[in-house]
Amino acid sequence: MFSHPEYDGHERVVHAHDAATGLRAIVALHDTSLGPAFGGCRMYPYADEALALADVLRLSRGMTYKAAICELPYGGGKSVILGDPRRDKTPELLRAMGRLIESLGGRYVTADDVGTTLADLAVMREVTKHTAGATASAQAPLAVTAYGVLMAIEAAVRHYYQRDTLEGLRVAVQGLGNVGYPLCGHLRERGAELVVADVDPARTAKAAAELGAEVVGPEAIYEASVDVLAPCALGAILNDRTVPRLGARLVVGGANNQLAEPRHDAMLAARGIAYVPDYLANAGGVIDFHQESVDDSPEAVLRSVERIRGITAGVLARAAASGETPLQVADRIVRERLQAAAAARRHTASASTAG
Ligand code: NAI
Repeated sequence: MFSHPEYDGHERVVHAHDAATGLRAIVALHDTSLGPAFGGCRMYPYADEALALADVLRLSRGMTYKAAICELPYGGGKSVILGDPRRDKTPELLRAMGRLIESLGGRYVTADDVGTTLADLAVMREVTKHTAGATASAQAPLAVTAYGVLMAIEAAVRHYYQRDTLEGLRVAVQGLGNVGYPLCGHLRERGAELVVADVDPARTAKAAAELGAEVVGPEAIYEASVDVLAPCALGAILNDRTVPRLGARLVVGGANNQLAEPRHDAMLAARGIAYVPDYLANAGGVIDFHQESVDDSPEAVLRSVERIRGITAGVLARAAASGETPLQVADRIVRERLQAAAAARRHTASASTAG
C-alpha cells in the first residue's frame, strides 16, 4: 500500500466487506486538512482489486486538489464498490455502503459517480447523513461540470487569445456524454464552431443535427485544426502518442487525469500548448455540493461555478509571470493551502494540549 505508485500520503484507506450483502468496497481519504473528505462513490466491475485500489487512490487525490484550488472547506476522498451496478446493486448493498460511510464519523462525504445515482444516495441516507444530493434542488439535473469547463475555456481564451467572446472560435470536444454534450451546447450558444468526436455514432449524429457540429473520427480529433481541445471522455489522453499531433494551442476539458504522466505537462509546454489543470476546469461538482449548504437554487449554483473563470485567470496570469506551466502554479497553490491548514491544525492541537 505505502509503496503503491498512486499512493500520495493518503491519510486513511479502508477496505470493507459485508458478508450479508456481498459489499466489497474501498474508501480512500486523501487529505482532510481543509475539511471532511468529499468525493463520489463509484460502482464498477473492476477486472481486479488492484485496478480498484489504483482508481480510488488517484481519484481521491484529485478531489483534494479540486476543493483546495477552489478554496472550499473540504478534503479529498473517494469510494469504490467492486461490482457491476446493473447486476449487483441492491438496496441492501447500498445500505451496507451507507453504514460504512457512517462508521467514518463524517470524515468522508459521498456523492453520485459512475455507476451510482442520486436515487442510490437516497437509499444510503436511510443509514447515514454524510451524502450529497440531500436537498430538493440538488435532485434537479444541472450540468455543473460542463458549465465550469466553459468558464475555464473563457478564461484561457481571454488570456491566450486576448478575446472576450468565443464567437467564431473553433473548439474540438472529445466525448459527448454528461459533460461533453452540454458543453457543446454552451459553446454553440456563444458562437463557437464545434468539431466533435465520440465512439458512439448516435451521439455525434445528434451533435451534427442539433448543433451543426463537424464530426471527426476518435483519432482525428487530436489533429483537428482548432483553437481549443476539450477532452471530455477518458483519462490519459495526453500522452507520447497524442501530444506531438495536437492541433490546438489550448487544452481545457472535463475529463479526469488527462495527462498520462506528469511529464506530459512539460511536453505540452515545449510545444507551446497551454494545459489548464483538469482538476480546476472540472471542479463544478464540488462547488455544487458546497452550495447545498449555502443556496442551491440553479441560479446560485451556476453563479458560484463561475468562480472557476476567475481562478483560472489568476493561475494563468501567475504562470505567465513566473514562466511555469499553469499546472505547476496550481499544484503549488494547492500544496501551500494544505500545508497552511495542516500547520494551523497542529497549532490548535498543541495549544489545547498545553491548555
Ligand atoms: P459519459 O460516460 O457520460 O461520457 C463519456 C463519453 O465519451 C461517451 O459519450 C463515450 O461514448 C465517449 N467516449 C468514450 N471513449 C471515447 C473515445 N476514445 N473517443 C471519443 N469519445 C469517447 O461521462 P461523463 O460523465 O461525461 O464524464 C466524462 C469525463 O469527465 C470523465 O473523465 C469523468 O471522469 C470526467 N468528469 C465527469 C464529471 C461529471 O459530473 N459527470 C465530473 C468531473 C469529471
